[in-house]
Amino acid sequence: MRDYVETLIGRGEMRVVEREVDPRHELAAVIKASQSRDDLPILFRRVRGASMPVVSNLYGSRRRIREMVGTEGSFPKRWLDLCQGMQPGAETFLRKVPVPSNLRDSRMSALPQLTYWEKDAGPYFTAAIYLARDPETGIANLSFHRSMYVSDEELRIRLGTTHDLTRYQAKAEAENKPLPAALLIGTAPDIFLAAAASLPIETDELSAAAQIRGRPVEMRPCKTIDLMVPADTEIVVEGEILPNVRRPEGPFGEFMGYYVPVGDQHVFRVTHVSHREGAYFHGLLCGSPEDIVLLQEATAARIYKALVGQVRGVVDVAVHSTLLCTVISIRQEYAGQARHVAMAAIGSQLDYNKSVIVVDDDVDIHDLHDVWWAFLTRGRADTRTTVIPDVPGFYRDPHRDHWGKLIIDATKPLGREAEFERRRIPGEDKIRLEDYLRR
Ligand SMILES: Cc1cc2nc3c(=O)[nH]c(=O)nc-3n(C[C@H](O)[C@H](O)[C@H](O)COP(=O)(O)O)c2cc1C
Repeated sequence: MRDYVETLIGRGEMRVVEREVDPRHELAAVIKASQSRDDLPILFRRVRGASMPVVSNLYGSRRRIREMVGTEGSFPKRWLDLCQGMQPGAETFLRKVPVPSNLRDSRMSALPQLTYWEKDAGPYFTAAIYLARDPETGIANLSFHRSMYVSDEELRIRLGTTHDLTRYQAKAEAENKPLPAALLIGTAPDIFLAAAASLPIETDELSAAAQIRGRPVEMRPCKTIDLMVPADTEIVVEGEILPNVRRPEGPFGEFMGYYVPVGDQHVFRVTHVSHREGAYFHGLLCGSPEDIVLLQEATAARIYKALVGQVRGVVDVAVHSTLLCTVISIRQEYAGQARHVAMAAIGSQLDYNKSVIVVDDDVDIHDLHDVWWAFLTRGRADTRTTVIPDVPGFYRDPHRDHWGKLIIDATKPLGREAEFERRRIPGEDKIRLEDYLRR
């Protein structure tokens, strides 16, 4: 992460806060204000009580994420290309290196203790990537699990029902064994991107990181657990997820915009903390663009992959609005194609696709105003909306708040395309307003 942070500072693309900020709410409020102005990342040089600077919103920009994977076009297409070459047996993607001499021992309470939302139970580590290996196969997984600070020895983590780490932990727990894991804070962008991807359980996610990097990931041994970690990680917390132990975690202001109530969750016993000399800490505001943009892109890639294998004419996919709205652009070839595409999209990701909107490829799928314009101006409201009742959404949804699916066909009527040609002004794309305002 450090190289990337310093590159952005060098390019003048980092908002830098020199004034001291309070890690309790003030820092989060400044991140929010900064994100509402534009998508620049932000660096807090002085955080009260903390010995290291905090960086945020590195990933809150579609443009930067595309740059990280080396494309100016569609993220889903580029992401799938990157994933294609990945092989199981990812050891070839790793290079063992000795423990760097610039590592310093630390403790949890010395790290920035960031409390984000008003009713959060306490400080949380939100840019927390867990690296663990499947106890049976040894395949490595990277995944995000926000972690509640309890003490120098303990974090509490909420493991999702579908996560690979949850499966690894269950395997270890069945043998009454702890699962060794490392919490990585401040990773290189390729590790961060690979952690956001939900790759098949047989795919080593470190190989995805190497694929993006274009060379093997350098790994160094941990001090207290039998695990290698990416050597350039700013902060590494070693430990183990305890078997058959659950303790209260939460409340926490989650990505949907509400508080998740207190629940009994897994316990991570911390065995060692280290950081690189001059480390940067990474804190992200849950549910903000930094949390959501990458997840939207990774989800779009998953849906795109499923669609192109099944239906003709799919051009691109974008995911919006806390992941519950998918927009797909198509080139129309036959009647009913939009509904075909929407059904396939729902089948490809049963959790998130609460609403699916299908548009023609002259609509900007990243702009919901444009998408809604297409629906309202290209046909009837009644016959182009379909509600599929009584289908579950999220797995854990006791009140069924996320049941039901909505399909919106916002495409032009087939055969009448000429009537719906978008008006354009010749040369409008090339206008630079500054050229006309300069005296
Ligand atoms: C920046 C970021 C933060 C995330 N934080 C969490 C989190 O705290 N808890 C969670 O359950 N999922 C979180 N997710 C969503 C997914 O869990 C995440 O993409 C996951 O790492 C996929 O892991 P898998 O390999 O187990 O499918 C986050 C995703 C992103 C991109």
